[in-house]
Amino acid sequence: MSVDESVLLEAQGLVKEYEPGRRVVDDVSFAIRRGETLGLVGESGSGKSTVARLLLRLAEPTAGTVRYDGQDLLAMSQREMRGMRRRMQIVFQDPYAALNPRMKVKQILSEPFEIHGERPSEGVGARLQEMLKTVGLEESALERFPHEFSGGQRQRINIARALALRPEFLVLDEPVSALDVSVGAQVVNLLRELQKRYVLTYLFISHSMPLVRYLCDRVAVMQRGRLVELGECEQVCSAPRDEYTRRLIAATPEMPEALRVGD
Ligand SMILES: Nc1ncnc2c1ncn2[C@@H]1O[C@H](COP(=O)(O)OP(=O)(O)OP(=O)(O)O)[C@@H](O)[C@H]1O
Ligand SMILES: [Mg+2]
Repeated sequence: MSVDESVLLEAQGLVKEYEPGRRVVDDVSFAIRRGETLGLVGESGSGKSTVARLLLRLAEPTAGTVRYDGQDLLAMSQREMRGMRRRMQIVFQDPYAALNPRMKVKQILSEPFEIHGERPSEGVGARLQEMLKTVGLEESALERFPHEFSGGQRQRINIARALALRPEFLVLDEPVSALDVSVGAQVVNLLRELQKRYVLTYLFISHSMPLVRYLCDRVAVMQRGRLVELGECEQVCSAPRDEYTRRLIAATPEMPEALRVGD
């Protein structure tokens, strides 16, 4: 079997049924290339988050395979999966729900190291300071609790935590949907900077076609559990082949002003 080195993750024939006979993900296949940002769009309930969970093995598929860096993820033992987990992380939509309100930021950001029994060579303290700096937060944030931060700052904390173990792949499940447009735009620009700095591969889940066009190289479109279109972003956005994609593009508002400038 020939292996395409440019592919980091490959999903083949993914199916998920929570109830027998009701497919919320139905025969989905696609590949994510190293270093790219693949957009995943589709209306609410189309199965985007479920696909994300299947890729990271946070849920088990009813059928299908996921290969990550050439290895069959679904065949891995718990122990092997732990090793893989540090390489793939997820950032969720709701920056409030994702952070334990009783933990200081210092504990929140140290947790990944404890879970994986790992110490960065420069020391945890130095790594935390670096992570805070790269997401644009002050060092004083370490001694504070989540409720002391705004939505945008909390999402920065979530991003810092996701990056703590230096993963190579990040699933961003509507990371700015809960934020004001201008705050969201700043977080999107931060994600772009981080991708360059740390050579990250992204799966960016979104409702917003303009945002996907701004951030993504290619885009996959889901409708009722199925993948209806997949292609280069510019191509899909300017000449969608699928009627549903056309409607999605027509339904989404213009690009926020904050993202148009400086690009
Ligand atoms: N744990 C679960 N048990 C049963 N059904 C579920 C579960 N998780 C999701 N579903 C169902 O699967 C379908 C797809 O949900 P999913 O969350 O993947 O959609 P989505 O595209 O991410 O939607 P949104 O844009 O609203 O986040 C929905 O009908 C949802 O109700
Ligand atoms: Mg979702």
